[in-house]
Amino acid sequence: MAKPVQSGLDRILTLELVRVTERAAVAAARLRGRGDEKAADQVAVDAMRAELNRLPIRGTVVIGEGERDEAPMLYIGEEVGAGDGPEVDIALDPLEGTTICAKNLPNSLAVIAIAERGSLLYAPDVYMDKIAVGPGYPAGVVDLDASPAENIANIAKAKGVAVNDITACILDRPRHARLIEAVRDTGAAIRLIGDGDVAGVIHTTDPDETGIDIYMGSGGAPEGVLAAAALRCIGGQMQGRLQLNTDDKIARAAKMGISDPLKIYTMEEMARGDVLFAATGVTDGNLLSGVKFGRDSIETETIVMRSSSQTVRSIKARHQDMDKF
Ligand code: FBP
Repeated sequence: MAKPVQSGLDRILTLELVRVTERAAVAAARLRGRGDEKAADQVAVDAMRAELNRLPIRGTVVIGEGERDEAPMLYIGEEVGAGDGPEVDIALDPLEGTTICAKNLPNSLAVIAIAERGSLLYAPDVYMDKIAVGPGYPAGVVDLDASPAENIANIAKAKGVAVNDITACILDRPRHARLIEAVRDTGAAIRLIGDGDVAGVIHTTDPDETGIDIYMGSGGAPEGVLAAAALRCIGGQMQGRLQLNTDDKIARAAKMGISDPLKIYTMEEMARGDVLFAATGVTDGNLLSGVKFGRDSIETETIVMRSSSQTVRSIKARHQDMDKF
C-alpha cells in the first residue's frame, strides 16, 4: 500500500532550501579571513535573499537581520518568496558567526529554517539563556532552573559516564565567568567558543564526532530559535528564556506577542509543527566542511532536515556554474 502523504510543508521545499544556504555560504566564503564582518554579512544577505525569492512560497521573515528600521534587507516582517505556494514563517541567518568568518575560524554557517505560518517564536533581538542536549536522553534531563552541577550530573548519569567525561560548550564571554567556574568545579570539561552558538547547540547532537555533550549559557535569541528548529529535526532537548531585563525589552517583546517575560520556552514552543532546517558550512567545522573553491568548481556541504520525518540529509555539492555565484 502506498505510504500516506505527510501533512505539513511540501517535501520538495526541503531540497529547494539547500540552494538558499549554499548560495549565501559561497558568497560569504569569498570574504573569509578578510577581517570585514560587515562586508561578508552583506554579500551573504544579498545572495540568500535572491535565492529565497525564487522559492515557491509566500514567506514572512520572523527571525532575520533585525527590525525594519535597522536592516534594509531580510528584516523582520519582510515578505519573501516567489509569491505563490504555502504561507510560511522564516527564520534565517545568512552568516551565523560573522566574526568567525572574518577571522576564518571554524563553524560559521549560512542557516535557514522554515515552518508553517505562526509556528516559530517571534523573538526580539535580545539575549536568551539556553540549555541544550542531543537525542537519547530522558525528557527533562536538563533544566534552565537547575544548577550547572545538577544538569551536568544528570546527563553524566543518563549517559552512563563520570562527570569528568562530560564536555559543555559555552560562549567565551565575561558574562559567563560564574557559569564557567561552576561547570569546572564539577570536574566537567568546557569547550569555549568565540562565536556561533547555533553550531554549538547542533554539536550536542553528535558528541562522538564533536566531543560536545551539552550547550549552556546565553546568546542571541534569534540564534536560539534557529537552534531549536534544528534540534526539532534531529532530536534533542532545548530550553530558552529571553533576557527581558529592561522596560524597553519587555515592551519590544510585548509587541511580538510575548506577555510573560520570565517564561521558559521548550524547543517545541520555539519551533512548532513541521519545520525544515538547512545549514551550509562557510568555514570548516566539526560537522560541516566549509566552502572549497577549486579551479573549475566550487564545493559546498549542507545539512538539511525536516522535523515531521526526522530525515537528516547531508549534501555535498559540486557547482560547475561558477557564474551563478
Ligand atoms: P553574529 O553572526 O551576528 O556575529 O552572531 C554570532 C554570535 O556568536 C551568535 O552565535 C551568538 O548567539 C551571539 O553572537 C552572542 O552574542 P554576543 O557576541 O553579544 O555574546
